[in-house]
Amino acid sequence: MSNHPDRTSEWWREAVFYHIYPLSFADSDGDGYGDLDGIISKLDYLSDTLGINAVWLSPFYRSPMKDWGYDISDHTDVDPIFGDLSTARQLIAEAHSRGIRVIVDYVMNHSSDHHPWFIESRSSRENAKRDWYVWRDSDQDGGPPTNWVSVFNGPAWTLDEMTGQWYRHTYLPEQPDLNWRNPELVEAMMDVVRFWLDAGADGFRIDAAHQMMKDPEEKNNPPVPHDFQPAYKDMGEYDTFVHLYDLGHPDVHDAHRGFRTLLDSYPQQPISVGEIHIFDLSEWASYYGDDLDEFSMPFNFHLMAADWNASSIRATIEAVHRTVPAGAWTNWTLGNHDEIRIASRLPEGHDRLAALLLLTLRGTPFLYYGDELGMKQTPVSAQDAKDPWGENVEYLSRDGARTPMQWNPGPNAGFAPDGASPWLPIPDDYKSVNVDTELAESGSMLNMYRQLLDIRRESEALRLGSIIVHSSSSDDALVYGRESDDQMLTVALNFSDERMIVPTRPGRIIFSTSDPKRADVVLDEVSLDRGEGVVVCHS
Ligand code: GLC
Repeated sequence: MSNHPDRTSEWWREAVFYHIYPLSFADSDGDGYGDLDGIISKLDYLSDTLGINAVWLSPFYRSPMKDWGYDISDHTDVDPIFGDLSTARQLIAEAHSRGIRVIVDYVMNHSSDHHPWFIESRSSRENAKRDWYVWRDSDQDGGPPTNWVSVFNGPAWTLDEMTGQWYRHTYLPEQPDLNWRNPELVEAMMDVVRFWLDAGADGFRIDAAHQMMKDPEEKNNPPVPHDFQPAYKDMGEYDTFVHLYDLGHPDVHDAHRGFRTLLDSYPQQPISVGEIHIFDLSEWASYYGDDLDEFSMPFNFHLMAADWNASSIRATIEAVHRTVPAGAWTNWTLGNHDEIRIASRLPEGHDRLAALLLLTLRGTPFLYYGDELGMKQTPVSAQDAKDPWGENVEYLSRDGARTPMQWNPGPNAGFAPDGASPWLPIPDDYKSVNVDTELAESGSMLNMYRQLLDIRRESEALRLGSIIVHSSSSDDALVYGRESDDQMLTVALNFSDERMIVPTRPGRIIFSTSDPKRADVVLDEVSLDRGEGVVVCHS
Protein backbone atom coordinates (compact mmCIF):
# COMPACT_ATOMS: atom_id res chain seq x y z
CA MET A 1 0.00 0.00 0.00
CA SER A 2 1.33 3.39 -0.93
CA ASN A 3 2.29 5.65 1.94
CA HIS A 4 3.43 8.67 -0.03
CA PRO A 5 1.90 12.02 0.84
CA ASP A 6 -0.96 13.36 -1.23
CA ARG A 7 0.84 14.78 -4.21
CA THR A 8 -2.13 16.05 -6.18
CA SER A 9 -1.56 19.65 -5.09
CA GLU A 10 2.00 19.82 -6.40
CA TRP A 11 2.51 23.25 -7.98
CA TRP A 12 4.24 22.01 -11.08
CA ARG A 13 1.31 19.93 -12.31
CA GLU A 14 -0.42 23.08 -13.51
CA ALA A 15 2.71 24.90 -14.64
CA VAL A 16 4.01 25.56 -18.14
CA PHE A 17 7.80 25.24 -18.21
CA TYR A 18 10.10 27.14 -20.55
CA HIS A 19 13.55 25.73 -21.15
CA ILE A 20 16.33 28.30 -21.42
CA TYR A 21 19.72 27.40 -22.78
CA PRO A 22 21.58 30.24 -21.02
CA LEU A 23 24.42 30.51 -23.55
CA SER A 24 21.90 31.45 -26.21
CA PHE A 25 19.16 33.47 -24.55
CA ALA A 26 20.46 37.01 -24.03
CA ASP A 27 23.99 38.40 -23.90
CA SER A 28 24.11 41.46 -21.64
CA ASP A 29 27.86 42.16 -21.77
CA GLY A 30 28.68 41.68 -25.44
CA ASP A 31 31.05 38.70 -25.13
CA GLY A 32 28.86 36.72 -27.53
CA TYR A 33 27.58 34.32 -24.86
CA GLY A 34 24.23 34.60 -23.14
CA ASP A 35 24.39 35.26 -19.40
CA LEU A 36 22.30 35.47 -16.24
CA ASP A 37 21.90 39.26 -16.39
CA GLY A 38 20.59 38.74 -19.90
CA ILE A 39 17.99 36.29 -18.61
CA ILE A 40 17.00 38.73 -15.86
CA SER A 41 16.44 41.40 -18.49
CA LYS A 42 14.00 39.09 -20.29
CA LEU A 43 11.94 37.97 -17.31
CA ASP A 44 9.12 40.33 -18.24
CA TYR A 45 8.90 38.62 -21.60
CA LEU A 46 8.46 35.31 -19.79
CA SER A 47 5.94 36.58 -17.25
CA ASP A 48 3.97 39.19 -19.21
CA THR A 49 4.31 38.34 -22.88
CA LEU A 50 4.17 34.56 -22.53
CA GLY A 51 2.83 34.03 -19.02
CA ILE A 52 4.77 30.82 -18.39
CA ASN A 53 5.12 29.63 -14.79
CA ALA A 54 8.56 28.07 -14.53
CA VAL A 55 11.91 27.98 -16.27
CA TRP A 56 14.43 25.19 -16.55
CA LEU A 57 17.94 26.58 -16.91
CA SER A 58 20.59 24.43 -18.56
CA PRO A 59 23.89 24.57 -16.61
CA PHE A 60 25.48 27.91 -15.77
CA TYR A 61 28.04 26.50 -13.30
CA ARG A 62 31.79 26.77 -13.56
CA SER A 63 32.88 24.73 -16.53
CA PRO A 64 35.68 24.40 -19.08
CA MET A 65 32.77 24.29 -21.61
CA LYS A 66 33.88 21.12 -23.38
CA ASP A 67 30.22 20.09 -23.44
CA TRP A 68 28.99 23.65 -23.00
CA GLY A 69 28.35 23.54 -19.28
CA TYR A 70 27.44 19.86 -18.90
CA ASP A 71 31.05 19.38 -17.78
CA ILE A 72 30.97 20.99 -14.35
CA SER A 73 34.14 21.93 -12.50
CA ASP A 74 32.37 23.60 -9.56
CA HIS A 75 28.71 22.78 -8.87
CA THR A 76 28.21 25.61 -6.46
CA ASP A 77 29.68 28.48 -8.39
CA VAL A 78 28.66 30.31 -11.54
CA ASP A 79 30.93 30.36 -14.56
CA PRO A 80 32.23 33.90 -15.21
CA ILE A 81 30.71 33.69 -18.72
CA PHE A 82 27.30 33.80 -17.04
CA GLY A 83 27.93 36.10 -14.06
CA ASP A 84 28.43 35.15 -10.45
CA LEU A 85 26.56 33.66 -7.53
CA SER A 86 24.92 36.91 -6.58
CA THR A 87 23.51 37.23 -10.12
CA ALA A 88 22.16 33.69 -9.82
CA ARG A 89 20.49 34.57 -6.51
CA GLN A 90 19.12 37.76 -8.02
CA LEU A 91 17.76 35.82 -11.00
CA ILE A 92 15.93 33.40 -8.71
CA ALA A 93 14.54 36.25 -6.59
CA GLU A 94 13.43 38.31 -9.58
CA ALA A 95 11.82 35.32 -11.23
CA HIS A 96 9.98 34.52 -7.99
CA SER A 97 8.76 38.08 -7.70
CA ARG A 98 7.09 37.60 -11.11
CA GLY A 99 5.55 34.27 -10.12
CA ILE A 100 8.08 32.23 -12.11
CA ARG A 101 9.68 29.21 -10.48
CA VAL A 102 13.24 28.26 -11.38
CA ILE A 103 14.59 24.77 -11.80
CA VAL A 104 18.26 24.14 -12.45
CA ASP A 105 20.19 21.34 -14.09
CA TYR A 106 21.71 18.68 -11.85
CA VAL A 107 24.33 16.65 -13.65
CA MET A 108 24.49 13.45 -11.62
CA ASN A 109 26.38 11.13 -13.89
CA HIS A 110 29.67 12.97 -14.31
CA SER A 111 31.73 16.06 -13.59
CA SER A 112 34.40 17.85 -15.57
CA ASP A 113 37.93 16.46 -15.56
CA HIS A 114 38.83 19.90 -14.17
CA HIS A 115 36.70 19.38 -11.08
CA PRO A 116 38.95 19.42 -7.98
CA TRP A 117 37.44 16.04 -7.02
CA PHE A 118 38.72 14.49 -10.23
CA ILE A 119 42.07 16.24 -10.07
CA GLU A 120 42.56 14.67 -6.64
CA SER A 121 41.13 11.35 -7.73
CA ARG A 122 43.51 10.97 -10.65
CA SER A 123 46.54 12.13 -8.63
CA SER A 124 47.30 8.65 -7.25
CA ARG A 125 45.73 5.25 -6.74
CA GLU A 126 45.84 5.87 -2.99
CA ASN A 127 44.14 9.25 -3.01
CA ALA A 128 41.15 9.49 -0.67
CA LYS A 129 38.94 10.51 -3.61
CA ARG A 130 40.21 7.79 -5.96
CA ASP A 131 36.92 5.91 -5.53
CA TRP A 132 34.76 8.98 -6.19
CA TYR A 133 35.23 8.13 -9.87
CA VAL A 134 35.42 4.77 -11.63
CA TRP A 135 38.96 3.50 -12.13
CA ARG A 136 39.81 0.08 -13.57
CA ASP A 137 42.80 -1.90 -14.75
CA SER A 138 43.29 -2.80 -18.41
CA ASP A 139 41.75 -6.01 -19.71
CA GLN A 140 44.04 -9.02 -20.34
CA ASP A 141 45.21 -7.59 -23.66
CA GLY A 142 46.10 -4.21 -22.23
CA GLY A 143 42.98 -2.59 -23.71
CA PRO A 144 40.06 -0.83 -22.04
CA PRO A 145 38.28 -2.80 -19.28
CA THR A 146 35.06 -3.30 -21.33
CA ASN A 147 33.80 -2.71 -24.87
CA TRP A 148 31.53 0.11 -23.71
CA VAL A 149 31.13 3.03 -26.07
CA SER A 150 30.54 6.62 -25.02
CA VAL A 151 27.27 8.30 -26.06
CA PHE A 152 29.33 10.75 -28.08
CA ASN A 153 31.05 7.75 -29.75
CA GLY A 154 34.52 6.35 -29.15
CA PRO A 155 35.51 4.25 -26.12
CA ALA A 156 33.90 4.97 -22.75
CA TRP A 157 37.28 4.54 -21.04
CA THR A 158 40.43 6.65 -21.12
CA LEU A 159 43.79 5.46 -19.89
CA ASP A 160 45.45 7.71 -17.37
CA GLU A 161 49.15 7.21 -18.10
CA MET A 162 50.34 8.42 -14.72
CA THR A 163 48.49 5.90 -12.57
CA GLY A 164 48.16 3.23 -15.27
CA GLN A 165 44.40 2.79 -14.88
CA TRP A 166 41.40 3.66 -17.03
CA TYR A 167 38.61 5.96 -15.94
CA ARG A 168 35.09 5.62 -17.25
CA HIS A 169 33.18 8.35 -19.05
CA THR A 170 29.69 7.88 -20.47
CA TYR A 171 30.23 11.07 -22.48
CA LEU A 172 33.46 12.92 -23.32
CA PRO A 173 36.83 11.96 -21.81
CA GLU A 174 36.58 15.40 -20.19
CA GLN A 175 33.40 14.21 -18.38
CA PRO A 176 34.54 11.42 -16.03
CA ASP A 177 31.73 9.38 -14.44
CA LEU A 178 31.07 9.92 -10.75
CA ASN A 179 30.89 6.80 -8.61
CA TRP A 180 27.48 6.86 -6.93
CA ARG A 181 28.34 3.67 -5.06
CA ASN A 182 30.76 5.67 -2.91
CA PRO A 183 28.88 7.10 0.11
CA GLU A 184 31.18 10.13 0.45
CA LEU A 185 30.59 11.10 -3.16
CA VAL A 186 26.84 10.71 -2.61
CA GLU A 187 27.01 13.01 0.41
CA ALA A 188 29.05 15.60 -1.51
CA MET A 189 26.48 15.55 -4.32
CA MET A 190 23.64 15.87 -1.78
CA ASP A 191 25.40 19.01 -0.52
CA VAL A 192 25.10 20.38 -4.05
CA VAL A 193 21.35 19.75 -3.93
CA ARG A 194 21.13 21.49 -0.54
CA PHE A 195 23.11 24.43 -1.86
CA TRP A 196 20.71 25.17 -4.73
CA LEU A 197 17.56 24.49 -2.74
CA ASP A 198 18.85 26.81 0.00
CA ALA A 199 19.50 29.39 -2.72
CA GLY A 200 15.79 29.18 -3.56
CA ALA A 201 15.76 26.86 -6.59
CA ASP A 202 12.42 25.13 -7.05
CA GLY A 203 13.83 21.84 -8.19
CA PHE A 204 16.01 20.11 -10.72
CA ARG A 205 16.16 18.66 -14.17
CA ILE A 206 18.41 15.65 -13.73
CA ASP A 207 20.82 15.03 -16.54
CA ALA A 208 21.41 11.52 -17.93
CA ALA A 209 19.56 10.14 -14.93
CA HIS A 210 19.24 6.52 -16.03
CA GLN A 211 22.85 6.16 -17.06
CA MET A 212 24.69 6.60 -13.81
CA MET A 213 24.56 3.05 -12.43
CA LYS A 214 26.30 0.40 -14.51
CA ASP A 215 26.43 -3.34 -14.01
CA PRO A 216 28.84 -4.02 -11.10
CA GLU A 217 30.29 -7.04 -12.95
CA GLU A 218 31.04 -4.81 -15.92
CA LYS A 219 30.33 -7.31 -18.65
CA ASN A 220 30.80 -6.47 -22.31
CA ASN A 221 27.71 -5.27 -24.15
CA PRO A 222 26.53 -7.56 -26.97
CA PRO A 223 26.33 -6.17 -30.52
CA VAL A 224 22.87 -5.22 -31.78
CA PRO A 225 20.99 -7.78 -33.86
CA HIS A 226 21.04 -7.26 -37.65
CA ASP A 227 17.44 -6.11 -37.82
CA PHE A 228 17.95 -3.47 -35.12
CA GLN A 229 16.01 -0.22 -35.57
CA PRO A 230 16.89 2.69 -33.26
CA ALA A 231 13.85 3.45 -31.06
CA TYR A 232 14.48 7.09 -31.50
CA LYS A 233 17.40 8.41 -33.53
CA ASP A 234 20.51 6.85 -35.00
CA MET A 235 23.24 7.51 -32.46
CA GLY A 236 26.08 6.15 -34.60
CA GLU A 237 28.57 3.76 -32.97
CA TYR A 238 26.66 3.95 -29.68
CA ASP A 239 23.78 2.20 -31.44
CA THR A 240 25.92 -0.74 -32.53
CA PHE A 241 25.64 -2.26 -29.04
CA VAL A 242 22.74 -3.35 -26.86
CA HIS A 243 23.19 -1.33 -23.69
CA LEU A 244 22.61 -4.16 -21.27
CA TYR A 245 25.40 -3.45 -18.85
CA ASP A 246 26.36 0.20 -19.11
CA LEU A 247 23.23 1.90 -17.85
CA GLY A 248 20.27 1.58 -15.54
CA HIS A 249 21.49 -1.12 -13.13
CA PRO A 250 18.64 -1.60 -10.60
CA ASP A 251 20.47 0.24 -7.81
CA VAL A 252 19.99 3.44 -9.84
CA HIS A 253 16.58 3.51 -8.15
CA ASP A 254 18.14 3.56 -4.66
CA ALA A 255 20.19 6.57 -5.67
CA HIS A 256 17.12 8.40 -6.97
CA ARG A 257 15.12 7.54 -3.85
CA GLY A 258 17.85 9.08 -1.70
CA PHE A 259 17.82 12.21 -3.82
CA ARG A 260 14.01 12.44 -3.60
CA THR A 261 14.02 12.02 0.18
CA LEU A 262 16.25 15.06 0.43
CA LEU A 263 14.06 17.06 -1.94
CA ASP A 264 10.95 16.21 0.04
CA SER A 265 12.50 17.66 3.19
CA TYR A 266 12.36 21.14 1.62
CA PRO A 267 9.30 23.38 1.95
CA GLN A 268 9.18 24.52 -1.68
CA GLN A 269 7.94 21.10 -2.94
CA PRO A 270 10.91 20.87 -5.29
CA ILE A 271 10.23 19.18 -8.59
CA SER A 272 12.60 16.60 -10.05
CA VAL A 273 12.40 15.82 -13.75
CA GLY A 274 14.76 13.05 -14.76
CA GLU A 275 16.19 12.89 -18.26
CA ILE A 276 15.20 9.29 -18.96
CA HIS A 277 15.88 8.37 -22.57
CA ILE A 278 14.13 5.03 -22.37
CA PHE A 279 11.43 4.10 -24.83
CA ASP A 280 10.19 0.95 -23.16
CA LEU A 281 7.22 2.45 -21.37
CA SER A 282 7.14 0.35 -18.24
CA GLU A 283 10.87 0.70 -17.69
CA TRP A 284 10.54 4.43 -18.29
CA ALA A 285 7.72 4.68 -15.75
CA SER A 286 9.76 2.79 -13.15
CA TYR A 287 11.61 6.09 -12.60
CA TYR A 288 8.57 7.47 -10.80
CA GLY A 289 9.50 4.90 -8.15
CA ASP A 290 7.40 2.00 -6.90
CA ASP A 291 5.91 4.26 -4.29
CA LEU A 292 6.17 7.50 -6.30
CA ASP A 293 9.35 8.08 -4.35
CA GLU A 294 11.84 8.74 -7.15
CA PHE A 295 11.42 11.49 -9.74
CA SER A 296 8.38 13.75 -9.72
CA MET A 297 8.34 12.84 -13.39
CA PRO A 298 10.68 11.15 -15.84
CA PHE A 299 10.93 13.44 -18.86
CA ASN A 300 8.45 12.18 -21.44
CA PHE A 301 10.21 11.99 -24.81
CA HIS A 302 7.67 9.63 -26.34
CA LEU A 303 6.11 12.23 -28.62
CA MET A 304 9.55 12.90 -30.09
CA ALA A 305 9.95 9.23 -30.93
CA ALA A 306 6.43 8.87 -32.38
CA ASP A 307 5.88 9.07 -36.12
CA TRP A 308 4.28 12.39 -36.92
CA ASN A 309 0.80 11.26 -37.85
CA ALA A 310 -2.51 11.15 -36.03
CA SER A 311 -2.64 7.42 -35.40
CA SER A 312 0.85 7.12 -34.03
CA ILE A 313 0.39 10.19 -31.80
CA ARG A 314 -2.97 8.89 -30.59
CA ALA A 315 -1.36 5.55 -29.70
CA THR A 316 1.47 7.36 -27.89
CA ILE A 317 -0.86 9.52 -25.81
CA GLU A 318 -2.95 6.53 -24.81
CA ALA A 319 0.06 4.36 -24.02
CA VAL A 320 1.68 7.05 -21.87
CA HIS A 321 -1.50 7.61 -19.87
CA ARG A 322 -2.01 3.87 -19.44
CA THR A 323 1.52 3.53 -18.10
CA VAL A 324 1.88 6.52 -15.77
CA PRO A 325 1.28 5.09 -12.27
CA ALA A 326 -1.90 5.96 -10.37
CA GLY A 327 -1.45 9.23 -8.49
CA ALA A 328 1.42 10.38 -10.71
CA TRP A 329 1.46 13.04 -13.39
CA THR A 330 3.18 13.29 -16.73
CA ASN A 331 4.70 15.92 -18.99
CA TRP A 332 5.09 16.49 -22.73
CA THR A 333 7.85 17.99 -24.76
CA LEU A 334 8.80 18.28 -28.41
CA GLY A 335 12.10 20.07 -28.28
CA ASN A 336 15.20 20.77 -26.24
CA HIS A 337 18.86 21.66 -26.60
CA ASP A 338 19.71 18.14 -27.78
CA GLU A 339 17.09 17.79 -30.51
CA ILE A 340 16.46 19.12 -33.99
CA ARG A 341 14.03 22.03 -33.68
CA ILE A 342 10.39 21.12 -34.23
CA ALA A 343 9.91 23.68 -36.99
CA SER A 344 12.50 21.78 -39.05
CA ARG A 345 11.58 18.26 -37.97
CA LEU A 346 7.91 18.44 -38.92
CA PRO A 347 6.12 19.11 -42.20
CA GLU A 348 5.73 22.80 -43.05
CA GLY A 349 3.25 24.47 -40.71
CA HIS A 350 2.90 21.49 -38.39
CA ASP A 351 4.86 23.23 -35.64
CA ARG A 352 1.53 24.96 -35.00
CA LEU A 353 -0.15 21.60 -34.46
CA ALA A 354 2.76 20.69 -32.19
CA ALA A 355 2.15 23.80 -30.06
CA LEU A 356 -1.54 22.97 -29.81
CA LEU A 357 -0.74 19.42 -28.73
CA LEU A 358 1.81 20.48 -26.12
CA LEU A 359 -0.47 23.05 -24.57
CA THR A 360 -3.69 21.02 -24.56
CA LEU A 361 -2.61 17.51 -23.60
CA ARG A 362 -3.03 16.35 -20.03
CA GLY A 363 0.41 16.82 -18.45
CA THR A 364 2.94 19.55 -17.81
CA PRO A 365 4.26 21.11 -21.05
CA PHE A 366 7.95 21.91 -21.47
CA LEU A 367 8.58 24.49 -24.21
CA TYR A 368 12.02 25.14 -25.70
CA TYR A 369 13.14 28.74 -26.12
CA GLY A 370 12.55 30.07 -29.62
CA ASP A 371 10.06 27.39 -30.62
CA GLU A 372 7.35 29.92 -29.78
CA LEU A 373 8.74 32.02 -32.66
CA GLY A 374 9.03 29.14 -35.09
CA MET A 375 12.83 29.28 -34.95
CA LYS A 376 14.25 26.67 -37.30
CA GLN A 377 17.28 24.43 -37.10
CA THR A 378 20.11 26.68 -38.28
CA PRO A 379 22.81 25.28 -40.53
CA VAL A 380 26.15 25.82 -38.80
CA SER A 381 29.33 25.60 -40.89
CA ALA A 382 32.25 23.42 -39.83
CA GLN A 383 34.14 26.61 -39.07
CA ASP A 384 31.49 27.80 -36.59
CA ALA A 385 30.77 24.37 -35.11
CA LYS A 386 30.84 24.10 -31.33
CA ASP A 387 29.22 20.82 -30.32
CA PRO A 388 31.69 18.02 -29.50
CA TRP A 389 29.09 15.43 -30.50
CA GLY A 390 29.05 16.90 -34.00
CA GLU A 391 32.84 16.67 -34.10
CA ASN A 392 32.56 12.89 -33.73
CA VAL A 393 29.42 12.36 -35.81
CA GLU A 394 28.51 15.38 -37.90
CA TYR A 395 24.80 14.68 -38.30
CA LEU A 396 24.41 14.48 -34.51
CA SER A 397 25.57 18.06 -33.96
CA ARG A 398 23.20 20.00 -31.72
CA ASP A 399 24.51 23.44 -32.68
CA GLY A 400 21.64 24.16 -35.06
CA ALA A 401 19.10 23.99 -32.22
CA ARG A 402 21.15 26.21 -29.93
CA THR A 403 21.51 29.38 -31.96
CA PRO A 404 20.79 32.73 -30.27
CA MET A 405 17.26 33.72 -29.35
CA GLN A 406 15.82 36.11 -31.92
CA TRP A 407 14.47 39.13 -30.08
CA ASN A 408 14.18 41.80 -32.76
CA PRO A 409 15.15 42.62 -36.37
CA GLY A 410 18.12 44.74 -35.23
CA PRO A 411 21.83 43.86 -35.01
CA ASN A 412 22.52 40.37 -33.66
CA ALA A 413 18.74 39.84 -33.56
CA GLY A 414 18.81 41.71 -30.25
CA PHE A 415 20.57 38.75 -28.63
CA ALA A 416 23.83 40.64 -28.10
CA PRO A 417 24.84 44.28 -28.34
CA ASP A 418 25.76 45.65 -31.77
CA GLY A 419 29.35 44.72 -32.61
CA ALA A 420 29.42 41.54 -30.53
CA SER A 421 30.03 38.16 -32.22
CA PRO A 422 27.45 35.64 -31.05
CA TRP A 423 28.94 32.26 -30.18
CA LEU A 424 26.72 30.55 -32.75
CA PRO A 425 25.45 32.15 -35.96
CA ILE A 426 22.13 33.90 -36.25
CA PRO A 427 20.06 32.54 -39.15
CA ASP A 428 18.99 34.76 -42.03
CA ASP A 429 15.29 34.58 -41.17
CA TYR A 430 15.73 36.62 -37.98
CA LYS A 431 14.37 39.78 -39.61
CA SER A 432 10.91 38.24 -39.70
CA VAL A 433 11.23 35.48 -37.09
CA ASN A 434 11.74 37.46 -33.89
CA VAL A 435 9.80 38.58 -30.84
CA ASP A 436 9.20 42.22 -31.75
CA THR A 437 8.12 41.61 -35.33
CA GLU A 438 5.89 38.70 -34.42
CA LEU A 439 4.23 40.58 -31.56
CA ALA A 440 3.06 43.13 -34.09
CA GLU A 441 1.64 40.51 -36.47
CA SER A 442 -1.75 39.02 -35.90
CA GLY A 443 -1.57 35.30 -36.61
CA SER A 444 2.18 35.04 -36.00
CA MET A 445 3.51 31.95 -34.30
CA LEU A 446 4.28 33.98 -31.19
CA ASN A 447 0.78 35.42 -30.96
CA MET A 448 -0.64 31.96 -31.52
CA TYR A 449 1.43 30.65 -28.59
CA ARG A 450 0.25 33.57 -26.45
CA GLN A 451 -3.35 32.85 -27.29
CA LEU A 452 -2.89 29.18 -26.42
CA LEU A 453 -1.08 30.01 -23.18
CA ASP A 454 -3.93 32.36 -22.23
CA ILE A 455 -6.52 29.70 -22.92
CA ARG A 456 -4.62 27.14 -20.89
CA ARG A 457 -4.17 29.57 -17.99
CA GLU A 458 -7.93 30.25 -17.91
CA SER A 459 -9.00 26.64 -18.31
CA GLU A 460 -8.94 24.16 -15.48
CA ALA A 461 -10.02 21.48 -17.96
CA LEU A 462 -6.76 22.00 -19.88
CA ARG A 463 -4.53 22.36 -16.84
CA LEU A 464 -5.84 19.54 -14.74
CA GLY A 465 -8.86 17.95 -16.39
CA SER A 466 -9.28 14.42 -17.64
CA ILE A 467 -8.45 13.45 -21.20
CA ILE A 468 -10.39 11.12 -23.45
CA VAL A 469 -8.78 10.35 -26.77
CA HIS A 470 -11.44 9.59 -29.39
CA SER A 471 -11.07 6.70 -31.72
CA SER A 472 -11.32 8.09 -35.20
CA SER A 473 -12.43 6.89 -38.57
CA SER A 474 -9.65 8.91 -40.18
CA ASP A 475 -5.95 8.22 -39.85
CA ASP A 476 -5.32 11.92 -40.29
CA ALA A 477 -7.51 13.32 -37.52
CA LEU A 478 -6.57 13.40 -33.86
CA VAL A 479 -9.44 14.34 -31.56
CA TYR A 480 -9.54 14.37 -27.77
CA GLY A 481 -11.74 15.76 -25.04
CA ARG A 482 -10.57 17.59 -21.92
CA GLU A 483 -12.96 17.93 -19.06
CA SER A 484 -13.15 19.43 -15.58
CA ASP A 485 -16.15 19.89 -13.25
CA ASP A 486 -17.38 22.95 -15.10
CA GLN A 487 -15.82 22.82 -18.54
CA MET A 488 -15.77 20.49 -21.48
CA LEU A 489 -13.47 21.03 -24.47
CA THR A 490 -12.68 19.16 -27.64
CA VAL A 491 -9.33 19.48 -29.38
CA ALA A 492 -9.25 18.41 -33.03
CA LEU A 493 -6.14 18.33 -35.24
CA ASN A 494 -6.01 17.71 -38.96
CA PHE A 495 -2.65 16.20 -39.97
CA SER A 496 -3.56 15.90 -43.64
CA ASP A 497 -3.07 18.14 -46.65
CA GLU A 498 -6.80 18.17 -47.29
CA ARG A 499 -9.66 19.96 -45.68
CA MET A 500 -11.64 17.60 -43.43
CA ILE A 501 -14.86 17.42 -41.47
CA VAL A 502 -14.70 15.97 -37.98
CA PRO A 503 -17.81 15.09 -35.96
CA THR A 504 -18.15 16.94 -32.66
CA ARG A 505 -20.74 18.10 -30.13
CA PRO A 506 -22.30 21.55 -30.22
CA GLY A 507 -20.06 24.35 -29.05
CA ARG A 508 -18.00 27.34 -30.06
CA ILE A 509 -14.49 27.44 -31.45
CA ILE A 510 -12.18 29.25 -29.04
CA PHE A 511 -8.89 28.63 -30.80
CA SER A 512 -7.61 27.81 -34.27
CA THR A 513 -4.00 27.32 -35.35
CA SER A 514 -4.80 28.94 -38.70
CA ASP A 515 -7.03 31.86 -37.89
CA PRO A 516 -6.73 33.84 -34.66
CA LYS A 517 -10.24 35.22 -35.15
CA ARG A 518 -12.00 31.97 -35.82
CA ALA A 519 -14.89 31.77 -33.33
CA ASP A 520 -17.69 30.01 -35.17
CA VAL A 521 -20.42 28.06 -33.49
CA VAL A 522 -20.44 24.38 -34.41
CA LEU A 523 -23.31 21.92 -34.15
CA ASP A 524 -22.41 18.33 -34.86
CA GLU A 525 -19.29 18.73 -36.95
CA VAL A 526 -16.30 21.01 -37.36
CA SER A 527 -14.50 21.71 -40.57
CA LEU A 528 -10.71 21.85 -40.44
CA ASP A 529 -8.43 23.34 -43.03
CA ARG A 530 -5.34 21.36 -44.08
CA GLY A 531 -2.97 21.25 -41.10
CA GLU A 532 -5.45 23.10 -38.90
CA GLY A 533 -6.15 22.36 -35.26
CA VAL A 534 -8.93 23.84 -33.15
CA VAL A 535 -10.27 23.90 -29.63
CA VAL A 536 -14.04 23.72 -29.27
CA CYS A 537 -15.66 24.75 -25.99
CA HIS A 538 -18.90 22.95 -25.14
CA SER A 539 -19.83 24.69 -21.93
C1 GLC B 1 22.36 15.22 -21.41
C2 GLC B 1 22.27 16.66 -21.84
C3 GLC B 1 23.22 16.89 -22.96
C4 GLC B 1 24.63 16.61 -22.46
C5 GLC B 1 24.72 15.21 -21.88
C6 GLC B 1 25.97 15.04 -21.07
O1 GLC B 1 21.90 14.36 -22.39
O2 GLC B 1 20.95 16.99 -22.17
O3 GLC B 1 23.16 18.19 -23.47
O4 GLC B 1 25.53 16.73 -23.51
O5 GLC B 1 23.66 14.92 -21.01
O6 GLC B 1 25.88 15.79 -19.88
